[in-house]
Amino acid sequence: MLIRTHNCGQLRESDIGATVRLNGWVNSYRGHGTGLVFIDLRDRYGLTQLVFDGEDLPKEVMDAADKLRNEDVLAVEGKVRIRTGGENPKLVTGKIEVVVSKLEVLNKTANPPFLPDDLNKLPNEELRLSYRYIDLRRPRMQQIMQMRHKLAKVTRDYFHENGFLEVDTPILYKSTPEGAREFLVPSRNVPGGWYALPQSPQLFKQILMVAGCDRYIQLCRCFRDEDPRADRQAEFTQVDLEMSFVRRDQVIDMMEGYVRRLWKEMCGYDVPPIQRMGYREAMERFGIDRPDTRYGLEITDISEIAGRSDVAFFKDALAKGADRPKFNSQRGVVKAIRVPGGAEKLSRKITDGYNEFVRGFGAGGCAVVKVNAQGAFETGIAKFLEGVKADLVSALKLEPGDTVLFVADTYAVCTKALGELRQKVARDMGVVPKPGAEGGPWNFLIVVDFPMFEKNKDTGKWVAMHHPFTAPNDDQRDAFVNAPVDDEVTIEAIVSAGYDIVLNGQEIAGGSIRIHDPAVQGKVFQLLGMTPEQAREKFSFLLEALSYGAPPHGGIAFGLDRLVMNFTGTDNIRDVIAFPKTQIGADLMTKAPSMVTEEQLKELYVKSTYTAPVK
Ligand code: AMO
Repeated sequence: MLIRTHNCGQLRESDIGATVRLNGWVNSYRGHGTGLVFIDLRDRYGLTQLVFDGEDLPKEVMDAADKLRNEDVLAVEGKVRIRTGGENPKLVTGKIEVVVSKLEVLNKTANPPFLPDDLNKLPNEELRLSYRYIDLRRPRMQQIMQMRHKLAKVTRDYFHENGFLEVDTPILYKSTPEGAREFLVPSRNVPGGWYALPQSPQLFKQILMVAGCDRYIQLCRCFRDEDPRADRQAEFTQVDLEMSFVRRDQVIDMMEGYVRRLWKEMCGYDVPPIQRMGYREAMERFGIDRPDTRYGLEITDISEIAGRSDVAFFKDALAKGADRPKFNSQRGVVKAIRVPGGAEKLSRKITDGYNEFVRGFGAGGCAVVKVNAQGAFETGIAKFLEGVKADLVSALKLEPGDTVLFVADTYAVCTKALGELRQKVARDMGVVPKPGAEGGPWNFLIVVDFPMFEKNKDTGKWVAMHHPFTAPNDDQRDAFVNAPVDDEVTIEAIVSAGYDIVLNGQEIAGGSIRIHDPAVQGKVFQLLGMTPEQAREKFSFLLEALSYGAPPHGGIAFGLDRLVMNFTGTDNIRDVIAFPKTQIGADLMTKAPSMVTEEQLKELYVKSTYTAPVK
């Protein structure tokens, strides 16, 4: 084989006259049958024009050149000369061409299902994923893989410089309730025993702290059997970290340093000091714990004014849980969003849709008021608001042309519904800046002071807001340990030492200071509904480790795929993963998941008793 002396993006004017060898794929061809064939040869590094001239080449070589098609794999030898047809300024090799003297066809391709160029319309994603090796040849995909590699390198460099050790943790792990549904793997050696794939290396990294590792990092694979979404995959990668003998702000400072370094090296952007916002403020103003603060449309609690209006459903909502403290999830509230210019831009059809939209989050509906050019309130509930109109105008700073959207319900429902609605309205109003490297401002936020627990709305049981290993904030420890398990109001108000990093409304990292005291950990398990026996069964290794000299520790994990998405400006997580899974978790290229034989199942002591419904 004619082993390459250069790659396809390397030759320049200074190479003119040199004899070179190139290897690569046929990207395009011109001139078949004319005695002069032009090929653009492609590899990861670029394109180089090859010329096959029938005047100088033996017939069999010219015949072979005439038969070349897109995606054939070649090795050639030839001489570099100035490009005779004029420079191609779009290519870095655009000043030269290689006049071929020897040709080896290394692999003749079958007719490809699509061509890997970025110029034509992309085929549908199913086809791209089925023939991922062709899709990955596209320059755009090559660029994304390079970005991902660079991100991993900058990450390792930064944490290495700060004394972190990269340690691998197991993939075959124990089934532990951490939040999401797990993937299970049957054991052959322990009949009836199952491994779980890790949702994250959370407990191993904590145990590494007990083991004296002090500072840990891993670029690790995590597995969660959840339905994939635009920014979620069942199998994804984290930049996972843990530090010993630290308080919350030291972890956050270290992470801020990482973010700053990453953005500087990836796109030359200097991240300004990142604003920290309490969970409560985020929920009050934006209705969500990962707010996009690049646009307004903030939420205002107008409960007090609403209580003096004549709107019956406002009053009904406010009667709910009236004895509960402010911000309690079950206390009735009325909240509103002012949409400047909404009267013109948001048609009746759109605002009717909002009614349906908020019902999806458990709210009864969304009342709408338009402020007309004269400043009068219009639409359904306007006349019932007459008595409090002046107060509403002043509380919401209303102006002619505004639309106001109201939701009245419990604090939990109202906040969630308006938080989601705010994002929808922003899209409808066209006020969301385009994210990504190409322009939209980078809007970072660190959210702190989360509640430890929230109630699962389906089961009515407590769930840990971060995960069950998150510590209460320093000043909350005693209140937490002493709170009776049935004292819902106190438990809901306990604040944790968790933190999230949010970028343009997307959670890119989440972490916390951990519990290093077995008594506190035991109380958390109890609140989550585990008996001491169940807690021991599931977590004896953790509880034991915590009893053998556990240092205070804390950490965080960034979603590596989501970071890459931001740098490459895509909103599809599958674009940044070489071999991603579809919405139903399928790998279209290898056709996984696939059936296995009875023999295989028998060996694993597994018997299939359920048959899935035929779709
Ligand atoms: P958490 O579950 O918040 O924390 O995950 C950390 C970060 O990982 C990313 N992420 C995902 N990315 C793609 N697909 C998914 N399905 C997915 N799920 C999460 C997000 C998220 O911020 N062990 C803790 C971390 C810790 O406390 O140190 C954990 O896994 O960007």
